[in-house]
Amino acid sequence: MSFVPYIPESAPFSEEQRAWLNGFLAGIFSGAQPGPAVAAPPASLKIAVLYGTQSGTAEGLARKVVKDLKAKGHVASLASLEGYTPAALAEERYAILIASTYGEGDPPDAVQPFFQQLCVERFPRYQDLSYAVLALGDSHYEHFCKFGADLDNKLAALGAVRLIPRVDCDVELDAIFGEWKKALYARLAEIVATRPARNAPSSSLISPPAAGSPPSSGPSLPSSTSNGTSAASYSRENPFLAPLVEKRPLTARDSSKLTMHMTFSIADSDLQYQAGDACGVVPQNDRRLVDEIIDALKFSAGARVELPKGGAVTLHEALTHHLQITRVTRKMLEAYATIGNCDALFALLSPDGQSQLEKYAWDRGLIDLIHDYPGVLRSPADLAAVLPRLTPRLYSISSSPAAHTGEIHATIAVVRYYAHNRERGGVCSTLLSDRTHIGERRPIYIQPNKRFRIPADPSAPMVMIGPGTGIAPFRGFLHERRALGASGKNWLFFGERSAATDFFYRDELESMLRDGHLARLDTAFSRDQEKKVYVQDRMLEHSRELWAWLQEGASLYVCGDASRMAKDVHAALHTVAQKEGGMSTDAAQAYVASLKEDNRYHRDVY
Ligand SMILES: Cc1cc2nc3c(=O)[nH]c(=O)nc-3n(C[C@H](O)[C@H](O)[C@H](O)COP(=O)(O)OP(=O)(O)OC[C@H]3O[C@@H](n4cnc5c(N)ncnc54)[C@H](O)[C@@H]3O)c2cc1C
Ligand SMILES: NC(=O)c1ccc[n+]([C@@H]2O[C@H](COP(=O)([O-])OP(=O)(O)OC[C@H]3O[C@@H](n4cnc5c(N)ncnc54)[C@H](OP(=O)(O)O)[C@@H]3O)[C@@H](O)[C@H]2O)c1
Ligand SMILES: Cc1cc2nc3c(=O)[nH]c(=O)nc-3n(C[C@H](O)[C@H](O)[C@H](O)COP(=O)(O)O)c2cc1C
Repeated sequence: MSFVPYIPESAPFSEEQRAWLNGFLAGIFSGAQPGPAVAAPPASLKIAVLYGTQSGTAEGLARKVVKDLKAKGHVASLASLEGYTPAALAEERYAILIASTYGEGDPPDAVQPFFQQLCVERFPRYQDLSYAVLALGDSHYEHFCKFGADLDNKLAALGAVRLIPRVDCDVELDAIFGEWKKALYARLAEIVATRPARNAPSSSLISPPAAGSPPSSGPSLPSSTSNGTSAASYSRENPFLAPLVEKRPLTARDSSKLTMHMTFSIADSDLQYQAGDACGVVPQNDRRLVDEIIDALKFSAGARVELPKGGAVTLHEALTHHLQITRVTRKMLEAYATIGNCDALFALLSPDGQSQLEKYAWDRGLIDLIHDYPGVLRSPADLAAVLPRLTPRLYSISSSPAAHTGEIHATIAVVRYYAHNRERGGVCSTLLSDRTHIGERRPIYIQPNKRFRIPADPSAPMVMIGPGTGIAPFRGFLHERRALGASGKNWLFFGERSAATDFFYRDELESMLRDGHLARLDTAFSRDQEKKVYVQDRMLEHSRELWAWLQEGASLYVCGDASRMAKDVHAALHTVAQKEGGMSTDAAQAYVASLKEDNRYHRDVY
């Protein structure tokens, strides 16, 4: 094995200069002949790593790819597809795109302008572009990874060449991300090895940057702390064990639901957040359900199980901490059906069985599969092969760092329901409400939500629409604006089932209304009258005033249920523009799109 020297981090070069020199040395010492005029280092490509994200996962993966590419001597730049243009992409020779899917298979909100522009392109001007797409999604959704697929297909249709086939990642993405990276890096190494530097397209050749010069071209690398959100040492992989310091119901004893207010102390950590961010909680399954599953399968709790990510643990530990047992996913059913060769499950998994499958999966978990299709899981190893990883749950933070120093507040709807002859509970919401006592610690981390922030202009009006737990970030926004002395007017729409039992934070909100911090508070208690009333009905009732606020430059925020509420509120906004702005349907659509482009329409829906 030959020794390849490298430039240490302490050497007096910029990161980019160091990458160039390392690539150059790697090229020479790997036996490749340097070009006659040493115009370009053979081992170095200029690669744009672009991400489209809503909640940060794609960005995190993109950062890892950039780090790896740099370590391999390439000059890699990182940029969000937010604000990026197809014209900028056409200038690139190598691009890696990592993007998630939302809504009806749509791009993340911020990426919509980029994709809309890309979609109107017809001329195949991307022939010089080689690219790879990693699509992020969740196979629970009907349109699994659809945006990544659309992006991949559109680029190919416009003449760009795939470096490697697209890979679609489910929520458990570590292993598949690792495989995709391996294939990608192997392909890039192949390109470097087979293409003499002097024949490479000129814009992919890297010339050594002059000392102190800015990054060679393309979008600049955002600073990791550019929005001030930095959870330096704690992360999803290394969560902070935060003690629970407060826990109280927000719903009355006789309510038809249970929603809790919870406070974790982060005083002993370096965790930082901004109003609008979410808090990730790493959950663990209910011991009683774990024991029931082990008993039903007649396995030994102490049997060793090899987890896909590596490491052997006992079956009890695997089911308690590592594997998802309360939900049924398509992938899980596929694995289960294959192991057990179950025809009935295969029928459910066929294209014709889609709606049946959704119905089956909605309110069942592993224990139902074991009873409905017995005898399939023959060893603890089968369990590890079938079950997805238990993933953290996100909760919009309902506090303000300026007003609630050292604390993170959350507003948690407890998922509890009765189905198929048993009481059931959501893993994380019941862990927090039923199985976490004051003083007990839970692993948490911050999930930044950079596009969900109070208006940059403290005097700008703010309209917040947050029924149910959707109120969470708006409580944070209101406290933040008050603590910062922001003079802008605030208007909150809140909705729940009944005023008597479900008016979350009523005292606080009414007090803010009295002292003028809230200029308006409009509520919609859906079940207090015969005909349901929702927040969007209130928007329409007050459409003239809402329109006036928008004309004054108000920013509009929506948080809460994605499946129905957010769509209806979106439609109501169009109706307001048509009714009060005298707009046609098309003009109203363009108006709402312009609100988004101007950073005045933000959604945080789940
Ligand atoms: C960005 C973001 C922010 C969020 N913010 C909040 C927040 O502020 N507050 C909050 O409470 N939640 C919030 N959530 C949702 C939260 O992350 C969890 O999804 C929620 O708490 C349920 O998790 P769980 O582990 O308790 O339930 P799980 O174990 O994940 O079980 C949920 C599953 O149970 C089934 N189910 C649920 N309800 C029923 C029912 N009534 N009947 C039948 N089956 C049912 C469904 O299959 C569902 O998928 C947010 C989610 C995201 C993505
Ligand atoms: N996918 C689903 O079917 C579904 C349903 C409910 C909740 N959820 C999820 O459950 C979690 C907790 O919910 P939550 O406690 O925040 O409250 P929520 O269940 O969303 O309810 C809050 C309020 O919104 C009302 N609402 C129902 N449909 C609406 C619509 N189309 N437009 C506007 N308002 C509407 C509810 O009325 P009514 O309940 O009286 O109709 C209630 O008054 C969230 O994660 C949410 O996404 C999912
Ligand atoms: C409200 C909501 C809607 C989603 N819709 C889809 C969808 O339609 N299709 C899909 O494959 N994944 C969907 N997902 C899953 C996300 O794409 C997935 O969690 C992804 O890893 C998030 O990446 P990001 O953090 O970079 O945005 C959805 C997630 C949420 C919270």
